[in-house]
Amino acid sequence: MTPSNLSDTKLQKTFSEERLVRVNSDWVTLNSRKLALLSRQLYLLKAADGDTFLIEPLALDDFFSIPEKDRAQLNLAIDRPPAKDAFQIRWAELMEMTASERVQELSQQRENFEAKLSAVSSPEQKVALASEIAETAFLINRACLSLNKNGDDPQDATLVAETLAITNSVLALIMETPLAVSLFRTFQAKTQSPTLAHVTRVFAMATGFLLYYNRQRQAGLAAKIRIVFPQEYASIYRELLPSLNESWIKADNLIRLPILSRDQIRIQSLGALLHDVGKVTDLDYFDGSAPKDDIKIRMHPITGAGIFLRTYGTNYEDAMYIVGDHHNYLFNPEGYGLTQWERNRSQRTTPAPQCCIADSLATYTSGEALSYFPVEMCALVDVYDALSDPSRQYRKPLSSYQALAFMNETFVKTHKLDPVLFDVFIDYLKTLDSSLSPELGFTPKYQRRR
Ligand SMILES: [Fe+2]
Ligand SMILES: [Fe+2]
Repeated sequence: MTPSNLSDTKLQKTFSEERLVRVNSDWVTLNSRKLALLSRQLYLLKAADGDTFLIEPLALDDFFSIPEKDRAQLNLAIDRPPAKDAFQIRWAELMEMTASERVQELSQQRENFEAKLSAVSSPEQKVALASEIAETAFLINRACLSLNKNGDDPQDATLVAETLAITNSVLALIMETPLAVSLFRTFQAKTQSPTLAHVTRVFAMATGFLLYYNRQRQAGLAAKIRIVFPQEYASIYRELLPSLNESWIKADNLIRLPILSRDQIRIQSLGALLHDVGKVTDLDYFDGSAPKDDIKIRMHPITGAGIFLRTYGTNYEDAMYIVGDHHNYLFNPEGYGLTQWERNRSQRTTPAPQCCIADSLATYTSGEALSYFPVEMCALVDVYDALSDPSRQYRKPLSSYQALAFMNETFVKTHKLDPVLFDVFIDYLKTLDSSLSPELGFTPKYQRRR
């Protein structure tokens, strides 16, 4: 090893908080860095002056994040530290597998899930199984999705098919058991990863919300909204889209409410399951207590949409836009995500929006609309879950009522969430939470007696 020209004084001054010691040890090289093993702790060499070395401890987690075959070459007798919780054990195991082993694992777990599902009868047992398989599907997708792939991986098609099969089974379960979504929320404390718990809840709740919406839509929701629109909603859209001609301000022009096919619900449900997949590139940050990092936060939908596209391709665009734009917030300046990033990058100018919620992706991506129906449905659930999440580090979870009140003040009145779909969400939430009685004031405007 070649000593550097640094003097002890300079080392001490520059790195006064770190350890400057003499070591009698062989050095090994790992990814161009030199390491020593002392008293079963790995140290990283930062600088050297003669036989005096500046070293710092290397976190064992960092060491074990290196592929096993590379570690084996170092021939260092280091045991894996005990994992902190069941989630970390699972994640570490997945990281040790090849991509095709992970997909095989997903197939196996899906088969086990289906076999167990047919053997149990209570809704609680069924939802416990579904909650577990949803977590597994999210984790294995995360472990397999990458921006650094070279072309198509041969197992990608299987990953997509297995994930869709799981999404479909959970969708069927939510359709068959009215209580299923509430039950999903009772399993939220099972995992040690707050991110994983959040995505499982959002997946179940967004799927339930889409199914609920579709039933209401088929039962005359659009007509109810059309009737009350001039009195109850028009003023909000005038503020939101000030350049509109008064004659255009009608419910059917501004909130286009599609009737969804089963296939559309399935793809949108997939988007909800994977909506935060971009967070898992920084799971330590999102699950930890590090100070707020705006760049990590603002990048997660963009990263997520990129890795989703690399594997799922363009056949699942509704899901990709849910991943990429679930924080777009009607292009409010506080919103962020894929579409804003693409527009800034290409410096594309768009026409003045004519509509708030589009029912076709082309209307949204052309700039004619502020949001796209599937994106907005997931955004509502995502904000609600973030506010009522029991495992957030810095604040207590809000009750359903408090969360809705907060959403109304901070997201709806400030034009970050659509007011009509927010009202449909209130109606849906009442089916899950009996404490949301009409006396609390949360009656959707389209339900109010006139
Ligand atoms: Fe997110
Ligand atoms: Fe989220």
